[in-house]
Amino acid sequence: MIIKPKFRGFICTTAHPAGCERQVLKQIDYVRSQSAINGPKKVLVIGASTGYGLASRITAAFGAGADTIGVFFERPSSGNRTATAGWYNSAAFEKAAQQAGLFAKSINGDAFSNEIKQQTIELIKQEWGQVDLVVYSLAAPKRVHPVTGEVFSSVLKPIGQTFTNKTVDFHTEEVSQISIEPATEEEIRHTIAVMGGEDWKMWIDALLEAGVLADGARTVAYSYIGPEVTHPVYRAGTVGRAKDHLEATAHELDAQLKPIGGQAFVSVNKALVTQSSSAIPVVPLYISLLYKVMKEKGLHEGCIEQMYRLFNERLYTGKDVPVDDKGRIRIDDWEMREDVQAEVSANWPKVDSDNLKEISDIEGYRKEFFQLFGFDLDGVDYEAETEADVRVPSLD
Ligand code: NAI
Repeated sequence: MIIKPKFRGFICTTAHPAGCERQVLKQIDYVRSQSAINGPKKVLVIGASTGYGLASRITAAFGAGADTIGVFFERPSSGNRTATAGWYNSAAFEKAAQQAGLFAKSINGDAFSNEIKQQTIELIKQEWGQVDLVVYSLAAPKRVHPVTGEVFSSVLKPIGQTFTNKTVDFHTEEVSQISIEPATEEEIRHTIAVMGGEDWKMWIDALLEAGVLADGARTVAYSYIGPEVTHPVYRAGTVGRAKDHLEATAHELDAQLKPIGGQAFVSVNKALVTQSSSAIPVVPLYISLLYKVMKEKGLHEGCIEQMYRLFNERLYTGKDVPVDDKGRIRIDDWEMREDVQAEVSANWPKVDSDNLKEISDIEGYRKEFFQLFGFDLDGVDYEAETEADVRVPSLD
């Protein structure tokens, strides 16, 4: 079929296999162009098919020469529907890993469930025995609790009071005001249940109990802080509460891993265009302003540059992992640099639909958004007949 982008709200409902493959290969090329990482050799990535998790998997495999198991929740193609981008990304990743002689297997299903945890543990036992790094990079709208069966839905809302600020619709490039009503206590509880640390702990508990974590094993999950302007809707809002919980869980897990000489970390990453971040109000406008400033200063990074720096300059340097006063790894250091934030804050009150193109990188934002689904990439023939039914070899 000929595959074009189709939208429903923030979501692109189609994905292009050749474009997704190209994106994955670009990330692999980047990692290969950097110096090798003396890092982990058996890596489990939970949330491995897009965004930060995919970039972590690529960095582990092609930067440190690691064998990887990736867990994700993606849809293959069926009838005249394409697969999801994460499916095509994983197909491309496995193909490239195989060519490079690296072990790569994937598990497609609900990572919140006991079944998928057990399936993953069985695979580790069968193939490796033990893992030495567990990356936890899930971003999900819903979670079914594996014990109680309760269904939780996460919301992106402020807490305590209504938040009104600017936002952008990057399809129409219109800047407008948005007001978001505060979350209820129930919504806060739900969001913590989906995006907090409970499931991360369930994974580590299960892996420890099964004896599949190697001595000195590490685990890392990802968090975000960001500037004042997004605090009401992010860090001081419902998702921020979940991130507080995730960060507190890192301390618990760290203590739990002590007996095997292991460690647990949270890494605070940079704001980037991913399927998850594009759904947050206000944040895409901030990212557009941020990209412009960071690109001008030569400081811009995408997921792959961030993850390479996380592995190479934080997690696997052979020295103690540098952390902030709350024990968190910070690779949002360039985003949060005073000169960068000063320029973004100066532009925030000024930005409107008329000057958006001039003072923000809305073009870059849009392009990256399309590229998440394999569109708008150089060297891909979007008029060509394309086979949408692509195999992820290990899922056959
Ligand atoms: P993403 O949407 O690109 O990736 C989410 C991953 O989770 C995908 O692999 C997806 O298949 C998987 N997933 C979702 N539900 C699942 C389920 N039920 N079972 C198995 N897999 C499932 O998200 P992104 O942005 O890479 O986020 C990853 C983490 O990084 C999140 O914790 C997010 O808060 C954090 N982060 C993101 C930032 C950003 O700007 N995008 C900034 C800093 C942190």
